[in-house]
Amino acid sequence: MEVSPNPHGLGNARGLPGVVRTLLAFVMPQPIIKLSGLSKVFRTREVETHALSGVGLSVAPGEFVSIAGPSGCGKTTLLSILGLLDSPTEGRYLLNGEAVEQLSATERAAIRNRTIGFIFQAFNLIGDLTVFDNVELPLTYRGISAAERHERVRASLDRVGMASRMDHYPSQLSGGQQQRVAVARAIVGRPAVLLADEPTGNLDSGNGRAVMQLLEELHANGATICMVTHDPRYAHAAERTVHLFDGRIVDGAEIRGIHELEESGFELA
Ligand SMILES: Nc1ncnc2c1ncn2[C@@H]1O[C@H](COP(=O)(O)OP(=O)(O)OP(=O)(O)O)[C@@H](O)[C@H]1O
Ligand SMILES: [Mg+2]
Repeated sequence: MEVSPNPHGLGNARGLPGVVRTLLAFVMPQPIIKLSGLSKVFRTREVETHALSGVGLSVAPGEFVSIAGPSGCGKTTLLSILGLLDSPTEGRYLLNGEAVEQLSATERAAIRNRTIGFIFQAFNLIGDLTVFDNVELPLTYRGISAAERHERVRASLDRVGMASRMDHYPSQLSGGQQQRVAVARAIVGRPAVLLADEPTGNLDSGNGRAVMQLLEELHANGATICMVTHDPRYAHAAERTVHLFDGRIVDGAEIRGIHELEESGFELA
């Protein structure tokens, strides 16, 4: 079968007839994240760990993807590479269509600051900054006026119900409140992608649900979210689960429309 060009990089569409692939390329959005052949090897003096091996993954704008798999399978490594905190040993990473796998740490930091919001299991707020100052941090290197920064920090804190605690320090807040502040910090820069690593892992079930509800609301308003979670209750909040095992994706690597079309009888090849 003739293979037509696939300008939007929609990966695994080879089983589809050419005309359907061409149509899909126009109607499906360009992935905001596209990994191919991605590997990460950690080398220490004693061992070489293949944390990721040949990972391919596409995420469409506005998708909510959860990443699941046993401890040590590479979830945090994958999220760190997606968030430009680390770079792959091999492979390609297109973020918003731009190749970012070979950038220097400084270039990565600049793109990260504009494009990515992070939420970590351990909140990672800075203890000697107030809630306001913690949330303002991602805006400080962007040449935004103090008045606009103030407005955006306030709006983010309002969004997570923490505006009344602006002058508190993290140690004066509960875990759930700290994580809500961390969500405010992650969204204040209006990032293209939100990355969350076990965001409910340190919370009791009530606070866990509240944080998840917040993520679901952000997603309903258009946010693209990739979230690592061990908790099946929360994995269901996502539209798609990517299953990792031993550094490889064993299920859920492709944007859903393609799989569903292939499975529903379009595989005529
Ligand atoms: N900086 C590092 N140096 C050496 N090895 C590392 C490093 N970071 C991760 N690894 C190894 O890479 C593998 C994947 O680790 P990773 O933290 O991505 O797992 P994970 O799926 O997030 O696990 P968990 O569910 O326990 O958080 C592990 O074997 C780990 O020991
Ligand atoms: Mg981890």
